[in-house]
Amino acid sequence: MYRFIFCLAVLSFTLQAAPQDTGEVTGTVLELTLPESTEPPVWGPDQVSKLEIDGKDYSTPRLTKRTIKVEPRPNKDSVTIVYTFWPLTYTRIIRTKVVKVEKGKTIKVDLTKPDPDHPDKHFVIYVPTPQPVVEAMCKLAKIGKDDVVYDIGCGDGRLVITAVKKFGAKKAIGIDISEERIRECKENAKQAGVADKVTFLHKDALTIKDFSEANVVLIYLSDKLNEALKPTLQKTLKPGSRIVSHRFRMGDWEPDKTETLRATDNSGDEDEFELHLWTIKKK
Ligand SMILES: C[S@@+](CC[C@H](N)C(=O)[O-])C[C@H]1O[C@@H](n2cnc3c(N)ncnc32)[C@H](O)[C@@H]1O
Repeated sequence: MYRFIFCLAVLSFTLQAAPQDTGEVTGTVLELTLPESTEPPVWGPDQVSKLEIDGKDYSTPRLTKRTIKVEPRPNKDSVTIVYTFWPLTYTRIIRTKVVKVEKGKTIKVDLTKPDPDHPDKHFVIYVPTPQPVVEAMCKLAKIGKDDVVYDIGCGDGRLVITAVKKFGAKKAIGIDISEERIRECKENAKQAGVADKVTFLHKDALTIKDFSEANVVLIYLSDKLNEALKPTLQKTLKPGSRIVSHRFRMGDWEPDKTETLRATDNSGDEDEFELHLWTIKKK
């Protein structure tokens, strides 16, 4: 008897706690197609996809087809779907879609493409560029005393600090989405004695709509984030400005030059590194 009551209690708790997929057509049924997400790496087991609808968790990591019954919030005729996924182990994308719902209807929702009304948010994990590669990037960009250098996703600030200290850039700006990295950058700039020539901004790179102050942009991000930044870079950088990217390209925008070098990586092993250079042409 006790066992029976216990089982009933567990069943009722499970039904309440875990939102259920259902084929039953009451409320609105959403048939979701979700983008693929990678397996989490051993060093980041928390890197799994997450699905939220109006703030409620419906996650079942990496399933790409879901059927979910929803009720919009009181006085609302839409629900907000937020899907966080890892297209690659080092890149996380948060995709949002607002879907109008109607009781008794089944609605197909495709989240495999970004919604132009709710741009994706991109986050790349922190991996510093080894110092010899930092210097090769500055050389490839031909950084000199007249240059204003940006590093979009500046990590610990090593690229902007090197651009000013070793290559004599007149000014450099580092942008990073992580507050912790920005704190580190400011400390490192002070230690390197260049705090008066560098500025660090705590920002999401995709919220910046004007890079015209820069004539050199250095990046080590991801294929997807580079591609998302490409339109703003192409539109706002002045002719003659240079972009140098460590490893990643920019979709179908062919680099003017690609250089490969061998250097010691962050774990002390010899490795090969690829750098790409784009020069902004006259419009
Ligand atoms: C691969 S690390 C490169 C760090 C540095 N540029 C270097 O080469 O040593 C990428 C950096 O970009 C930052 N980042 C990731 N997504 C970003 C975003 N959407 N906007 C701005 N910074 C971002 C991360 O916090 C991280 O510090």
